[in-house]
Amino acid sequence: MTKRILITSALPYANGPIHLGHLVEYTQTDIWARYQRLRGHDCVYVCADDAHGTPIMLRAQSEGITPEALIARMHEEHLRDFIGFGIGFDLYHSTHSPENFEISQEIYRALRSADFINIREIEQAYDAVAGMFLPDRFIRGTCPRCQATDQYGDSCEVCGATYSPTDLINPVSAVSGAVPERRQSEHYFFQLGDFTGFLKQWIHSGTLQEEVAHKLDEWFSIGLADWDISRDEPYFGIPIPDAPGKFFYVWLDALPGYMAATRHWCASHGRDFSDYWGPDASAEIYHFIGKDIIYFHGLFWPAMLKGSGHRLPTGIFAHGHLTVNGAKMSKSRGTSITAGQYLQHLNPEFLRYYIATRLNSHVEDIDLNLEDFLLKGNGDLVGKVVNLASRAAGFIHRFFAGQLAPSLGPDQTFYDSLLTSQEAIGEAYESREYSKAMRDIMALADQINAYVDQNAPWAMAKNPEQREALHRVATVTLNGFRILVTLLSPVIPELARKSLAFLQTELSWSGLSQPLLKHNIQPYSHLLQRMEKSQVDALIQAPTEAPGTHSAAKNPEHTDKTAEKTATAELGTESSSISIEDFSKIDLRIARIVAAEAVEGADKLLHLTLDIGEEKTRSVFAGIKSAYDPASLVGRLTVMVANLAPRKMRFGLSEGMVMAASGPAGGPFLLSPDAGAEPGMRVK
Ligand code: MSP
Ligand code: ZN
Repeated sequence: MTKRILITSALPYANGPIHLGHLVEYTQTDIWARYQRLRGHDCVYVCADDAHGTPIMLRAQSEGITPEALIARMHEEHLRDFIGFGIGFDLYHSTHSPENFEISQEIYRALRSADFINIREIEQAYDAVAGMFLPDRFIRGTCPRCQATDQYGDSCEVCGATYSPTDLINPVSAVSGAVPERRQSEHYFFQLGDFTGFLKQWIHSGTLQEEVAHKLDEWFSIGLADWDISRDEPYFGIPIPDAPGKFFYVWLDALPGYMAATRHWCASHGRDFSDYWGPDASAEIYHFIGKDIIYFHGLFWPAMLKGSGHRLPTGIFAHGHLTVNGAKMSKSRGTSITAGQYLQHLNPEFLRYYIATRLNSHVEDIDLNLEDFLLKGNGDLVGKVVNLASRAAGFIHRFFAGQLAPSLGPDQTFYDSLLTSQEAIGEAYESREYSKAMRDIMALADQINAYVDQNAPWAMAKNPEQREALHRVATVTLNGFRILVTLLSPVIPELARKSLAFLQTELSWSGLSQPLLKHNIQPYSHLLQRMEKSQVDALIQAPTEAPGTHSAAKNPEHTDKTAEKTATAELGTESSSISIEDFSKIDLRIARIVAAEAVEGADKLLHLTLDIGEEKTRSVFAGIKSAYDPASLVGRLTVMVANLAPRKMRFGLSEGMVMAASGPAGGPFLLSPDAGAEPGMRVK
């Protein structure tokens, strides 16, 4: 019974690169899709860039390009990263697509005619200089609780307080620096509360994991509020029908993006869209998501679908978040590793395998421990799997002209015993218990290695009377290897492809019951190179934060999805041209470092005391510890930005920044003037 299956992963935002955290999700989904195909199901796996919203609009502005140009570039980069990691999408689409305009507007119209939409005036912060309403994350000011300066409009990073932007002291717009005004405008709301009865029942229908359903139950006790689905122009998004100047809030069109991708794929593959999303569609639909977006997929999405007369998904599978060496990924610790950085150093299949060994069906965070990663990849994939092939293939070519034995003889029983766990391993894939699948497969690898050790084919090879036994042992070993790579193929597709080409056979789940006999194989050539410790170390050596910069240190890993994610941390870090007036606003001075010391609890920071020819010295925190012994800096001249707004950091107040260069070849390299310069001189 072949099933028709549609599989999706969450659509990554087009305003940032793919990082290893994302890859937990795309790997989890890809393994599942590959497993379904291996079992012969008619399976399509689609995804897309989530291309709309304020952060993307502003980032394009700051780069001096159109949002369309920005999302086209990001689409290319994302797709390159996904291909690099073997993520086998059938289509990688975009929410900025004709299909999505159509479908999002259709869904909206249906919700409106069923009376699930209301319109009312609300008051919001408005930036009169930039001419736009400001999402909370684009307002900065002093925390009303602890007085820390330069905090976001919805929460304080220093003391953790949450508040509304109107509570901020001295609020300014992060877009233009203007003081925000209050302005009224009409907003469109989706009446989520109308779906309370339906949702209460649906979230326990088996579509969601038990723990996710429980989490969502909490929301009903608070009551489901109307969802604000409109944004005023200027906004990069999809216009709301019959509402001039109004656009859908990015999430309203992101979710239908799943359908839009399906429609595009169907159109280019001669399939019928209604077989997937039509009211009586027989296809099963599965969404893979991270725990931070459960609210959108567990409440908004089913309500939108129900309210617009669509079918509902079959399963929504949430996973936890990735940590690196036990801590949240962090740019300042250098552990916010992008897909591109990883691919420069290491084979992607080691990461896919490692992720698989860590994943189960629950919403648990998973840790990438780099030491363990090195041991597992080399120990399991190279040591226990690939080595079997390299050891056995030599005998087959040296003594048997590249041909496997005609029978497994008495060892057929051993071969058959290896297959007794095949169905259980399949079950583990199906139920997303990948760590169990990997343990069971490695247990088989251990049995095959023990078989080799017991039979000692290298000793047999010295005795011409044992040729037949040697032939059998090498044949069993290679057939065992075939079992392993077939069972592992959803996880390590490229290694499986190369291994099966070496064995001159096709990937087949049911074909394993028939061992390869009297069958010619290719000479062995390298299937997988071991990882070196230096390659793994290189992953975290280059911190992505420019030394001493404030903006990059500002909450780079913000994941609050109830507010729009912001590109504020990135704003201004991309090159775009500025006027000479803009440049002259920066007060650059020669500074003498009069004291330098390490900062307790900070791996990267040095605390510098700088003399800039004024009465009072400046206190600055700079991320240059990796390159400088503090003692060696004392007395040295450098360049500082003297008029940067002081910023309260976890370790104290930073009153400016020093300038340093860094790049792929190394750094940071602190700038210094030629001899003769004096503290306090202006740099122009
Ligand atoms: N654009 C939205 C999703 C819209 S779906 C209609 C979004 N994008 S995202 O780029 O922030 O995240 C994409 C997926 O990657 C999400 O499922 C998210 O949970 C996942 N991850 C992002 N960072 C992650 C980790 N550090 N660890 C594991 N998964 C993470 O949300
Ligand atoms: Zn505070």
